Amino acid sequence: MSINYQDRIPNNVDLGSNRTLQRALEHWQPEFLKWWEELGPKDFQVADVYLRTATSVDAKGWATYGYVRMPDYRWGIFLNDPDPNRRIGFGDSFGQEVWQQIPGEYRATLRRLIVTQGDTEPASVEQQRMLGHTAPSIYDLRNLFQVNVEEGRHLWAMVYLLHAYFGRDGREEAEELLERHSGDADKPRILGTFNEPIRDWLSFFMFTYFTDRDGKFQLKSLAESSFDPLARTCQFMLTEEAHHMFVGDTGINRVVKRTLEVMKELNTDDPLAIRKAGAIDLPTVQRYLNFWFSSSLDLFGSETSSNAASYFANGLKGRPDESQYEDHIAIEQSYLLELPDGQGSTKSEQIPMRNAMNEVTRSSYVRDCEIGLNRWNRLIEKAGHSFRLTLPSTRFRRNIGNWAGVPTTPEGLPISAEQFGAHKNDWLPSESDRAHIMSLMQGVTEPGKMAAWIAPPDRGINNNPVEYEYVRLQ
Ligand SMILES: [Fe+2]
Ligand SMILES: [Fe+2]
Repeated sequence: MSINYQDRIPNNVDLGSNRTLQRALEHWQPEFLKWWEELGPKDFQVADVYLRTATSVDAKGWATYGYVRMPDYRWGIFLNDPDPNRRIGFGDSFGQEVWQQIPGEYRATLRRLIVTQGDTEPASVEQQRMLGHTAPSIYDLRNLFQVNVEEGRHLWAMVYLLHAYFGRDGREEAEELLERHSGDADKPRILGTFNEPIRDWLSFFMFTYFTDRDGKFQLKSLAESSFDPLARTCQFMLTEEAHHMFVGDTGINRVVKRTLEVMKELNTDDPLAIRKAGAIDLPTVQRYLNFWFSSSLDLFGSETSSNAASYFANGLKGRPDESQYEDHIAIEQSYLLELPDGQGSTKSEQIPMRNAMNEVTRSSYVRDCEIGLNRWNRLIEKAGHSFRLTLPSTRFRRNIGNWAGVPTTPEGLPISAEQFGAHKNDWLPSESDRAHIMSLMQGVTEPGKMAAWIAPPDRGINNNPVEYEYVRLQ
């Protein structure tokens, strides 16, 4: 169904035919706008931003680009078209018809899953709200705002499900999604990573590369759900998410590219000399990468999880790209885990496959993360340097799961707390790293100009040149 932009809430779910639901959502809409004005991008609400807006959910749906003031963005409800032949793809009810309504016994669990996903969407907008002032270019400023408005839309996607399928409980949850705030001492966001403010653009690029990619894998798992409206919502969200990861991938690529230029100009790889020239030395990039990768790994949950097993058994949350697996029941298989033995070494443990679903998803995520690193490393290799960016071990600096609180090297070798302390500043951003990065954060507002620590992008947005005025500041 095509998107109806005549309604107050743009949608492709024929919202007008359900007056009660429409009224309930129209009641939530001003609350959302109030939240956006208060906690969305600070000080840019009247700027004209060159944004894309979805006009349909197919591949041509992104054809619409134009200047919009962010509070006027047409946030709405867009689900992928239904597939009348879709069947349950995994778990105990494999092959049966998918659900258009929620079976009573799964109501509480599905609500929790939807609320947890929904909570991350506005959280990231809150985390990034100060970044507009220090954008390295107008092009980057526009990308930040595009990500922000789409995270706002992802909140709409989840709120629609809560309102449409969970009655009064759902409406209350929708209100609470606007009441919890990132970093709030009394009402924080649900997941730890989403309570850390993002104060600099290197962190923003790391966040969009690593943490938005966790989002991709969560959405891919939910896109397999037997609850068909949830699956179709997530399928469309994934097309928006792809842009967020593009921002991270190309952002880090441009940082590395600029650093290599400076290394060549100065004929040195001395971090201090590179910093003096206003760029970011590669070891610092690695430390930021270590921080954001490890913090994103925690979002997948524990290696062994009975919750994950029951989500899978009951058909609520599958494996990303479930169709690629041979066995969709996964009741007879097992998974081999390497766990800490509590004495400074490791032990192997065989667990039922269904209990290992978090780990299965985390492993696919790690493989997906490597693609970008290979690309960035090719740049470094081509420039004739032996330095390589690497993903730390999934054991490194974990706060959730079997490796939580177990000190290891970035390679995953268990070490003592003293040894970890002695190397902490080699492996994770130090005070001086952070101070250097913050010193580079000066907003650049002239179209086409770039901050000295980042190379220009290869091309602009929607066939426009890089020097296009992507944001008209007022
Ligand atoms: Fe999102
Ligand atoms: Fe995202």
